[in-house]
Amino acid sequence: MTDRAPGPRGNGVQIAPSILSADFAELGRDIAAVERGGADLIHIDVMDGHFVPNITIGPAVVRAIKRVATRPLDVHLMIEQPERYVDDFLTAGASMLSVHVEACRHLHRTIAHIRSRGAKAGAVINPSTPAAALEAIAADLDFVLVMSVNPGFGGQEFIPQSLDKLRRVRDVLDRAGSHAPIEIDGGIDARNAPAVVAAGASILVAGHAIFSAADPAAATRALRAACTATATHDRHQS
Ligand code: DX5
Ligand code: ZN
Repeated sequence: MTDRAPGPRGNGVQIAPSILSADFAELGRDIAAVERGGADLIHIDVMDGHFVPNITIGPAVVRAIKRVATRPLDVHLMIEQPERYVDDFLTAGASMLSVHVEACRHLHRTIAHIRSRGAKAGAVINPSTPAAALEAIAADLDFVLVMSVNPGFGGQEFIPQSLDKLRRVRDVLDRAGSHAPIEIDGGIDARNAPAVVAAGASILVAGHAIFSAADPAAATRALRAACTATATHDRHQS
């Protein structure tokens, strides 16, 4: 079994700031700030205005980000028929590439192709998509991305049912013999970080919680500290 998504540092949790909430006129500055804050990954949201009601960026901007980022690029494709653009985003520099099960007609072939090019392949499920949708592909994934908001915009409220979804996804992966990590995406902040980590997430995406802060580097550190505090708290409890 190949190794999975890039390994976590410290307490086993990875922080992936989402640049959707960054200043698009200052992406280099904002990415440098979260990297100073210890970001493990840079989460890049690609939207086509069809799969989700918003349009963001394409491979050209990912190529530009690749020139300035020092951390792996975690590219989240919220686009119809993502298989059409997988190679463009891999060539642009994606280290992790995730496609929505709701948008990808030939998911097994697409996941295999991403991996054949040496990147980590992830499947994404929306809030209304059951964890069972991953059963047939679970053993082939490097990670799962669980949406805790309806995709398309940053700054939305965390959907509480996502905690149960995390546990169900972990169960599907475990039953498939997969150690693939689970990434949680949408409405994550220092308040709910302990609960999502306890429910099975080990990669936390955060856009608004980090880039709306006066100091995104400090906000990145604070998000990781919130998870570490959980781990410490749990240890004292056991
Ligand atoms: C939403 C994106 C998320 C979003 C997270 O469609 O996939 O990555 O940017 O942003 P926050 O943390 O603001 O919900
Ligand atoms: Zn995302």
